[in-house]
Amino acid sequence: MAGIDIEGLATVYPNGVRAVDGLDLHVADGEFFALLGPSGCGKTTLLRTIAGLEAATEGTVRIDSADVTRLEPGKRGVAMVFQDYALFPHMNVSENITYPLKVRRVAPATRSGVATRTAGELSLQGLLERKPAQLSGGQQQRVALARAIASEGKVLLLDEPLSNLDARLRLEARTFLKKLQRDLGITTVFVTHDQAEALALADRIAVMDSGKLRQLGSPREVFARPSNTFVANFIGSTPMNLLPGKVTSESDISVVSVPGGSLPAATVSVPADAEVTVGIRPEYLTVASGDISGPALRGGVVVAENLGTQSLVTVDCDGTLVGVTVPEEAEPSPGSAVVLTAPATRVLLYDRESGELLARQPAPVA
Ligand SMILES: Nc1ncnc2c1ncn2[C@@H]1O[C@H](COP(=O)(O)OP(=O)(O)OP(=O)(O)O)[C@@H](O)[C@H]1O
Ligand SMILES: [Mg+2]
Repeated sequence: MAGIDIEGLATVYPNGVRAVDGLDLHVADGEFFALLGPSGCGKTTLLRTIAGLEAATEGTVRIDSADVTRLEPGKRGVAMVFQDYALFPHMNVSENITYPLKVRRVAPATRSGVATRTAGELSLQGLLERKPAQLSGGQQQRVALARAIASEGKVLLLDEPLSNLDARLRLEARTFLKKLQRDLGITTVFVTHDQAEALALADRIAVMDSGKLRQLGSPREVFARPSNTFVANFIGSTPMNLLPGKVTSESDISVVSVPGGSLPAATVSVPADAEVTVGIRPEYLTVASGDISGPALRGGVVVAENLGTQSLVTVDCDGTLVGVTVPEEAEPSPGSAVVLTAPATRVLLYDRESGELLARQPAPVA
């Protein structure tokens, strides 16, 4: 088992694209680490650079403390599963799984033992003689994983391994993958552009944009306290409300005026009159009942969307649309007037210009 240390890493393609642009990253031994970001942000390039399939232009990659930056892929102790699985179509499942061992000239008897054992771990018994074309998408994915595991790398790199599966299979495969990674305890970097998948699977998440790291943290931190508006926009199944605001009173609990009223913010050292962007997740807003004395937003319900047990209600607050989630039975009817409140610890203030989280805000109470 081994950690991965990345320092000042840049990968520049011959056409001048800086696909990875100055990254520092530490993946701990045994960690399940997710790389998340929009299409083209450099996720695949970063994985390929760790694996040695692309050459680093600047910086270093260390695996298990050894500098592997200039080492060829086969000597890095890395196993990679590609987005399209890259199974060999003319080989059966058993031959596919043990191909890395064959390359290393491991004896046939040993290879067939590994094939049987790994196939058992991944519920592929009975399929060993089949060709990839005779398997379902989920089974092909497991064969690709089995091949990676059988190669006994110190590090597993997975490039969107679930993206070819339909929604239902994807959920099953996700649970399966998480359990497998726990059982094996192998350091895993998992690329996805699906933020729900990253939140569900990872010990920690790195959010990338344009080859750079925008935030690194636990799923909870990245969800509850995005460190900039880029991450705030990107994470969450319902997007965070980002409202233009102005700090009107500064104390332990500041008050920020926003379209439709005001909100409390547990922010210190943001001066009164500062122009900010106010971030509040729909999940942390509440439709108030009865009289409200503190800061609140007032508006009219535009539309309500069914999310299952919850509804996402869109409220027009002085011309700005604000989303709030409510339990389905509490769904207000379109056209009705509502008052929205939020706990001060859930209201985040961002610099209007840079989009960075402002000041030292106390962590929300869990
Ligand atoms: N071989 C290449 N030569 C030149 N530019 C490339 C090459 N491969 C990728 N790029 C560019 O590098 C950037 C990063 O690409 P990369 O494939 O790493 O993104 P990604 O985050 O994996 O995207 P996706 O989510 O779409 O898979 C993009 O701008 C892409 O156009
Ligand atoms: Mg990619």
